[in-house]
Amino acid sequence: SPLHDLLTALPKCEHHVHLEGTLSPELLFELAAKNSIVLPPISGQASGDVGADAVDPAFASPEALYARYAQFTSLDDFLHYYYIGFRVLLTASDFEALTYAYLRRAATGLPGSRTGNVRHAEVFFDPQGHTPRGILPSTIITGFHAAAARAERDFGITAQLIPCLLRHLPVADGEATFDALAAAGHFASGALAGLGLCSTEIDRPPALYAPVFTRAAALGIDRTAHAGEEGPPGYVSAAVAELGVRRVDHGVRAAEDEDVMRGLSEAGVLLTVCPLSNVALKGVTRIGEVPVRVFLDRGVKFSLNSDDPAYFGGYIQENYCAVEEAFGLSVDEWRIIARNAVEGSWCGEERKAVIL
Ligand code: ADE
Ligand code: ZN
Repeated sequence: SPLHDLLTALPKCEHHVHLEGTLSPELLFELAAKNSIVLPPISGQASGDVGADAVDPAFASPEALYARYAQFTSLDDFLHYYYIGFRVLLTASDFEALTYAYLRRAATGLPGSRTGNVRHAEVFFDPQGHTPRGILPSTIITGFHAAAARAERDFGITAQLIPCLLRHLPVADGEATFDALAAAGHFASGALAGLGLCSTEIDRPPALYAPVFTRAAALGIDRTAHAGEEGPPGYVSAAVAELGVRRVDHGVRAAEDEDVMRGLSEAGVLLTVCPLSNVALKGVTRIGEVPVRVFLDRGVKFSLNSDDPAYFGGYIQENYCAVEEAFGLSVDEWRIIARNAVEGSWCGEERKAVIL
Protein backbone atom coordinates (compact mmCIF):
# COMPACT_ATOMS: atom_id res chain seq x y z
CA SER A 1 0.00 0.00 0.00
CA PRO A 2 1.28 3.54 -0.75
CA LEU A 3 0.40 4.41 2.83
CA HIS A 4 2.73 1.78 4.25
CA ASP A 5 5.54 4.28 4.88
CA LEU A 6 3.12 6.65 6.61
CA LEU A 7 1.72 3.87 8.83
CA THR A 8 5.26 2.93 9.81
CA ALA A 9 6.35 6.50 10.43
CA LEU A 10 3.35 7.55 12.53
CA PRO A 11 4.39 7.81 16.19
CA LYS A 12 2.16 5.27 17.89
CA CYS A 13 0.87 4.65 21.38
CA GLU A 14 -0.46 1.30 22.48
CA HIS A 15 -3.09 1.20 25.23
CA HIS A 16 -4.39 -2.30 24.98
CA VAL A 17 -1.86 -5.09 25.23
CA HIS A 18 -1.76 -7.77 27.92
CA LEU A 19 1.79 -8.62 29.06
CA GLU A 20 0.87 -12.31 29.33
CA GLY A 21 -0.64 -12.06 25.82
CA THR A 22 2.83 -11.34 24.43
CA LEU A 23 4.08 -14.83 25.46
CA SER A 24 4.94 -16.61 22.23
CA PRO A 25 4.69 -20.43 21.98
CA GLU A 26 8.48 -20.53 21.58
CA LEU A 27 9.07 -18.58 24.82
CA LEU A 28 6.34 -20.61 26.54
CA PHE A 29 8.17 -23.87 25.81
CA GLU A 30 11.54 -22.33 26.67
CA LEU A 31 10.36 -21.08 30.08
CA ALA A 32 8.49 -24.34 30.80
CA ALA A 33 11.78 -26.21 30.31
CA LYS A 34 13.82 -23.72 32.35
CA ASN A 35 11.29 -23.67 35.22
CA SER A 36 10.43 -27.41 35.08
CA ILE A 37 6.74 -26.72 34.45
CA VAL A 38 4.74 -29.65 33.06
CA LEU A 39 2.34 -28.47 30.37
CA PRO A 40 -1.02 -30.26 29.93
CA PRO A 41 -0.51 -33.89 28.84
CA ILE A 42 -0.63 -34.67 25.14
CA SER A 43 -1.65 -38.31 25.62
CA GLY A 44 -3.83 -40.18 28.10
CA GLN A 45 -1.36 -41.09 30.86
CA ALA A 46 -2.47 -38.46 33.36
CA SER A 47 -6.24 -38.87 33.01
CA GLY A 48 -7.96 -39.88 36.20
CA ASP A 49 -5.60 -37.89 38.43
CA VAL A 50 -7.37 -35.42 40.67
CA GLY A 51 -6.92 -31.97 39.20
CA ALA A 52 -5.09 -33.28 36.15
CA ASP A 53 -5.31 -31.29 32.95
CA ALA A 54 -7.45 -32.64 30.17
CA VAL A 55 -5.42 -34.26 27.41
CA ASP A 56 -4.61 -31.65 24.75
CA PRO A 57 -2.47 -32.44 21.70
CA ALA A 58 -1.95 -28.68 21.16
CA PHE A 59 0.89 -28.85 23.70
CA ALA A 60 2.94 -31.22 21.56
CA SER A 61 5.06 -28.38 20.12
CA PRO A 62 5.10 -24.63 19.45
CA GLU A 63 3.84 -25.38 15.92
CA ALA A 64 0.86 -27.37 17.26
CA LEU A 65 0.08 -24.55 19.68
CA TYR A 66 0.16 -21.94 16.87
CA ALA A 67 -2.20 -24.16 14.87
CA ARG A 68 -4.64 -24.34 17.80
CA TYR A 69 -4.42 -20.56 18.33
CA ALA A 70 -5.53 -20.09 14.71
CA GLN A 71 -8.80 -21.84 15.56
CA PHE A 72 -10.11 -19.99 18.61
CA THR A 73 -13.91 -20.01 18.72
CA SER A 74 -14.56 -17.34 21.39
CA LEU A 75 -13.03 -15.18 24.13
CA ASP A 76 -13.32 -18.00 26.69
CA ASP A 77 -11.77 -20.55 24.31
CA PHE A 78 -8.75 -18.21 24.01
CA LEU A 79 -8.64 -17.47 27.76
CA HIS A 80 -8.28 -21.21 28.52
CA TYR A 81 -4.92 -21.25 26.66
CA TYR A 82 -3.92 -17.77 27.84
CA TYR A 83 -4.18 -18.77 31.52
CA ILE A 84 -2.29 -22.06 30.97
CA GLY A 85 0.57 -19.92 29.59
CA PHE A 86 0.77 -18.04 32.91
CA ARG A 87 2.12 -21.17 34.61
CA VAL A 88 5.58 -20.87 33.03
CA LEU A 89 6.12 -17.32 34.36
CA LEU A 90 7.76 -17.53 37.79
CA THR A 91 10.55 -15.04 38.42
CA ALA A 92 11.15 -11.32 38.03
CA SER A 93 13.62 -12.16 35.27
CA ASP A 94 10.93 -14.14 33.40
CA PHE A 95 8.70 -11.06 33.44
CA GLU A 96 11.65 -8.85 32.50
CA ALA A 97 12.43 -11.03 29.47
CA LEU A 98 8.78 -11.05 28.40
CA THR A 99 8.44 -7.28 28.78
CA TYR A 100 11.70 -6.44 27.00
CA ALA A 101 10.87 -8.70 24.03
CA TYR A 102 7.47 -7.02 23.65
CA LEU A 103 8.82 -3.46 23.94
CA ARG A 104 11.58 -4.17 21.42
CA ARG A 105 9.08 -5.62 18.96
CA ALA A 106 6.62 -2.73 19.48
CA ALA A 107 9.33 -0.11 18.98
CA THR A 108 11.31 -1.69 16.14
CA GLY A 109 9.07 -4.34 14.50
CA LEU A 110 10.42 -7.61 13.20
CA PRO A 111 14.22 -7.95 13.44
CA GLY A 112 15.84 -5.66 10.89
CA SER A 113 12.57 -4.09 9.73
CA ARG A 114 12.56 -0.77 11.66
CA THR A 115 8.75 -0.75 11.72
CA GLY A 116 6.39 -0.50 14.65
CA ASN A 117 7.43 2.89 15.97
CA VAL A 118 5.42 2.52 19.18
CA ARG A 119 6.69 5.40 21.32
CA HIS A 120 4.66 4.66 24.44
CA ALA A 121 2.94 1.49 25.66
CA GLU A 122 0.49 0.98 28.51
CA VAL A 123 0.64 -2.69 29.35
CA PHE A 124 -1.96 -4.74 31.26
CA PHE A 125 -1.22 -7.67 33.54
CA ASP A 126 -3.47 -9.94 35.61
CA PRO A 127 -2.26 -10.13 39.26
CA GLN A 128 -4.98 -12.64 40.19
CA GLY A 129 -3.68 -15.03 37.54
CA HIS A 130 -0.33 -15.26 39.34
CA THR A 131 -0.96 -14.94 43.09
CA PRO A 132 -2.50 -18.47 43.37
CA ARG A 133 0.92 -19.85 42.26
CA GLY A 134 2.68 -17.70 44.84
CA ILE A 135 3.91 -15.10 42.34
CA LEU A 136 3.46 -11.69 43.96
CA PRO A 137 2.58 -8.50 42.08
CA SER A 138 5.83 -6.95 43.35
CA THR A 139 7.80 -9.65 41.44
CA ILE A 140 6.00 -8.74 38.20
CA ILE A 141 6.33 -5.01 38.84
CA THR A 142 10.09 -5.36 39.45
CA GLY A 143 10.65 -7.36 36.26
CA PHE A 144 8.49 -5.04 34.19
CA HIS A 145 10.20 -1.84 35.27
CA ALA A 146 13.70 -3.32 34.85
CA ALA A 147 12.78 -4.11 31.23
CA ALA A 148 11.07 -0.75 30.71
CA ALA A 149 14.18 1.15 31.83
CA ARG A 150 16.39 -0.88 29.47
CA ALA A 151 13.95 -0.51 26.56
CA GLU A 152 13.76 3.26 27.08
CA ARG A 153 17.57 3.46 26.91
CA ASP A 154 17.79 1.14 23.90
CA PHE A 155 14.75 2.22 21.83
CA GLY A 156 13.37 5.46 23.34
CA ILE A 157 10.02 3.80 24.11
CA THR A 158 8.28 4.57 27.42
CA ALA A 159 6.04 2.08 29.20
CA GLN A 160 3.51 1.93 32.00
CA LEU A 161 1.96 -1.03 33.82
CA ILE A 162 -1.76 -1.46 34.60
CA PRO A 163 -3.26 -4.30 36.69
CA CYS A 164 -6.58 -5.72 35.48
CA LEU A 165 -9.13 -7.34 37.78
CA LEU A 166 -10.43 -10.65 36.44
CA ARG A 167 -14.17 -10.90 35.91
CA HIS A 168 -14.33 -14.71 35.90
CA LEU A 169 -13.28 -14.70 39.58
CA PRO A 170 -15.42 -13.54 42.54
CA VAL A 171 -15.86 -9.76 42.75
CA ALA A 172 -14.57 -9.82 46.35
CA ASP A 173 -11.32 -11.37 45.11
CA GLY A 174 -10.86 -8.43 42.71
CA GLU A 175 -11.65 -5.93 45.44
CA ALA A 176 -9.10 -7.50 47.79
CA THR A 177 -6.51 -7.49 44.97
CA PHE A 178 -7.02 -3.77 44.33
CA ASP A 179 -6.96 -2.90 48.03
CA ALA A 180 -3.69 -4.79 48.54
CA LEU A 181 -2.03 -3.06 45.56
CA ALA A 182 -3.18 0.34 46.83
CA ALA A 183 -2.08 -0.40 50.41
CA ALA A 184 1.37 -1.44 49.14
CA GLY A 185 1.71 2.02 47.59
CA HIS A 186 2.13 0.80 44.00
CA PHE A 187 -0.28 3.40 42.56
CA ALA A 188 1.03 6.27 44.69
CA SER A 189 4.63 5.46 43.65
CA GLY A 190 3.71 5.39 39.96
CA ALA A 191 4.78 1.73 39.59
CA LEU A 192 1.18 1.09 38.50
CA ALA A 193 -0.37 3.69 36.20
CA GLY A 194 -4.07 2.88 36.63
CA LEU A 195 -6.68 0.16 37.05
CA GLY A 196 -8.24 -2.11 34.41
CA LEU A 197 -10.86 -4.87 34.17
CA CYS A 198 -10.81 -7.89 31.83
CA SER A 199 -11.44 -11.63 31.23
CA THR A 200 -14.83 -13.30 30.61
CA GLU A 201 -17.46 -10.68 29.79
CA ILE A 202 -20.80 -12.40 29.25
CA ASP A 203 -23.02 -12.15 32.37
CA ARG A 204 -20.42 -10.02 34.18
CA PRO A 205 -21.93 -6.49 33.90
CA PRO A 206 -19.70 -3.50 34.74
CA ALA A 207 -21.89 -2.51 37.72
CA LEU A 208 -20.45 -5.45 39.70
CA TYR A 209 -17.18 -3.50 39.86
CA ALA A 210 -18.65 -0.07 40.64
CA PRO A 211 -17.63 -0.16 44.35
CA VAL A 212 -13.95 -0.92 43.67
CA PHE A 213 -13.74 1.50 40.73
CA THR A 214 -15.28 4.19 42.95
CA ARG A 215 -12.56 3.55 45.54
CA ALA A 216 -9.92 3.88 42.81
CA ALA A 217 -11.46 7.15 41.62
CA ALA A 218 -11.37 8.54 45.16
CA LEU A 219 -7.61 7.80 45.25
CA GLY A 220 -7.12 9.69 41.97
CA ILE A 221 -6.26 6.53 40.02
CA ASP A 222 -6.93 6.44 36.25
CA ARG A 223 -9.32 3.68 35.17
CA THR A 224 -10.19 1.69 32.06
CA ALA A 225 -12.33 -1.41 31.51
CA HIS A 226 -12.91 -4.03 28.84
CA ALA A 227 -16.53 -3.79 27.64
CA GLY A 228 -18.48 -4.44 24.45
CA GLU A 229 -16.08 -7.11 23.16
CA GLU A 230 -18.60 -9.98 23.48
CA GLY A 231 -20.99 -8.15 25.81
CA PRO A 232 -23.86 -5.92 24.59
CA PRO A 233 -23.64 -2.19 23.74
CA GLY A 234 -25.26 -1.40 27.12
CA TYR A 235 -22.13 -2.71 28.85
CA VAL A 236 -20.08 0.00 27.10
CA SER A 237 -22.33 2.81 28.33
CA ALA A 238 -22.49 1.14 31.77
CA ALA A 239 -18.68 1.07 31.97
CA VAL A 240 -18.65 4.85 31.38
CA ALA A 241 -21.63 5.64 33.64
CA GLU A 242 -20.98 3.24 36.52
CA LEU A 243 -17.19 2.79 36.52
CA GLY A 244 -16.43 6.37 35.47
CA VAL A 245 -13.90 5.30 32.83
CA ARG A 246 -12.73 7.70 30.09
CA ARG A 247 -11.36 4.78 28.09
CA VAL A 248 -13.11 1.53 27.14
CA ASP A 249 -11.12 -1.50 25.95
CA HIS A 250 -12.58 -2.93 22.71
CA GLY A 251 -16.05 -1.29 22.88
CA VAL A 252 -16.73 -2.40 19.31
CA ARG A 253 -20.26 -3.61 19.99
CA ALA A 254 -21.17 0.03 20.74
CA ALA A 255 -21.53 0.32 16.96
CA GLU A 256 -24.81 -1.62 17.20
CA ASP A 257 -26.48 1.25 19.07
CA GLU A 258 -26.62 4.84 17.77
CA ASP A 259 -27.48 6.23 21.23
CA VAL A 260 -24.47 4.53 22.80
CA MET A 261 -22.19 5.90 20.05
CA ARG A 262 -23.62 9.41 20.52
CA GLY A 263 -22.89 9.18 24.25
CA LEU A 264 -19.29 8.10 23.61
CA SER A 265 -18.72 10.81 21.03
CA GLU A 266 -20.20 13.57 23.22
CA ALA A 267 -18.18 12.47 26.25
CA GLY A 268 -14.97 12.08 24.20
CA VAL A 269 -14.45 8.51 25.44
CA LEU A 270 -11.61 6.64 23.68
CA LEU A 271 -12.18 3.03 22.58
CA THR A 272 -9.02 0.89 22.44
CA VAL A 273 -9.97 -1.24 19.42
CA CYS A 274 -8.09 -4.46 18.58
CA PRO A 275 -8.96 -5.53 15.02
CA LEU A 276 -6.91 -8.75 14.69
CA SER A 277 -8.17 -9.84 18.12
CA ASN A 278 -11.80 -9.36 17.09
CA VAL A 279 -11.24 -11.55 14.03
CA ALA A 280 -9.31 -14.22 15.98
CA LEU A 281 -12.01 -14.49 18.68
CA LYS A 282 -14.86 -14.50 16.12
CA GLY A 283 -16.48 -11.23 17.18
CA VAL A 284 -16.33 -10.43 13.45
CA THR A 285 -15.61 -12.63 10.43
CA ARG A 286 -13.15 -10.17 8.82
CA ILE A 287 -11.35 -6.87 9.53
CA GLY A 288 -13.82 -5.00 7.28
CA GLU A 289 -16.55 -5.76 9.84
CA VAL A 290 -14.71 -3.95 12.65
CA PRO A 291 -16.65 -0.64 12.94
CA VAL A 292 -13.71 1.60 11.99
CA ARG A 293 -15.68 3.50 9.30
CA VAL A 294 -18.74 3.88 11.56
CA PHE A 295 -16.68 5.24 14.47
CA LEU A 296 -14.85 7.72 12.22
CA ASP A 297 -18.18 8.94 10.75
CA ARG A 298 -19.89 9.25 14.17
CA GLY A 299 -16.92 11.00 15.82
CA VAL A 300 -16.25 8.13 18.24
CA LYS A 301 -12.55 8.28 19.17
CA PHE A 302 -10.50 5.09 19.05
CA SER A 303 -6.95 3.79 19.05
CA LEU A 304 -5.72 0.61 17.31
CA ASN A 305 -4.01 -2.01 19.43
CA SER A 306 -2.77 -5.61 19.51
CA ASP A 307 -4.44 -7.05 22.69
CA ASP A 308 -2.64 -10.44 22.82
CA PRO A 309 -0.24 -10.28 19.87
CA ALA A 310 1.40 -13.69 20.45
CA TYR A 311 -2.03 -15.33 20.19
CA PHE A 312 -3.74 -13.30 17.46
CA GLY A 313 -1.12 -13.16 14.71
CA GLY A 314 0.06 -9.56 14.83
CA TYR A 315 1.53 -6.65 16.75
CA ILE A 316 0.40 -3.03 16.42
CA GLN A 317 1.97 -2.51 12.98
CA GLU A 318 0.07 -5.52 11.59
CA ASN A 319 -3.17 -4.14 13.07
CA TYR A 320 -2.63 -0.74 11.41
CA CYS A 321 -1.82 -2.42 8.08
CA ALA A 322 -4.83 -4.77 8.26
CA VAL A 323 -7.15 -1.80 8.84
CA GLU A 324 -5.60 0.10 5.92
CA GLU A 325 -6.03 -2.90 3.61
CA ALA A 326 -9.69 -3.33 4.61
CA PHE A 327 -10.73 0.35 4.69
CA GLY A 328 -8.28 2.36 2.58
CA LEU A 329 -8.37 5.35 4.94
CA SER A 330 -7.09 8.81 4.00
CA VAL A 331 -3.85 10.31 5.28
CA ASP A 332 -5.89 12.73 7.40
CA GLU A 333 -7.91 9.89 8.94
CA TRP A 334 -4.70 8.06 9.88
CA ARG A 335 -3.31 11.21 11.46
CA ILE A 336 -6.52 11.56 13.51
CA ILE A 337 -6.33 7.92 14.69
CA ALA A 338 -2.67 8.21 15.72
CA ARG A 339 -3.20 11.62 17.36
CA ASN A 340 -6.20 10.36 19.38
CA ALA A 341 -4.05 7.44 20.55
CA VAL A 342 -1.35 9.82 21.80
CA GLU A 343 -3.82 12.19 23.42
CA GLY A 344 -5.70 9.35 25.13
CA SER A 345 -2.51 8.06 26.78
CA TRP A 346 -1.77 8.31 30.49
CA CYS A 347 1.88 9.31 30.04
CA GLY A 348 1.46 13.00 30.94
CA GLU A 349 1.30 16.14 28.80
CA GLU A 350 5.07 16.61 28.53
CA ARG A 351 5.66 13.15 27.12
CA LYS A 352 2.67 13.48 24.78
CA ALA A 353 4.12 16.71 23.37
CA VAL A 354 7.44 14.94 22.69
CA ILE A 355 5.68 12.05 20.90
CA LEU A 356 3.50 14.32 18.76
N1 ADE B 1 -7.52 -10.91 28.71
C1 ADE B 1 -6.57 -10.94 27.76
N2 ADE B 1 -7.08 -10.59 26.57
C2 ADE B 1 -8.40 -10.30 26.78
C3 ADE B 1 -9.47 -9.88 25.96
N3 ADE B 1 -9.32 -9.67 24.66
N4 ADE B 1 -10.68 -9.70 26.52
C4 ADE B 1 -10.86 -9.92 27.81
N5 ADE B 1 -9.90 -10.32 28.64
C5 ADE B 1 -8.67 -10.51 28.13
ZN1 ZN C 1 -7.77 -7.13 26.12
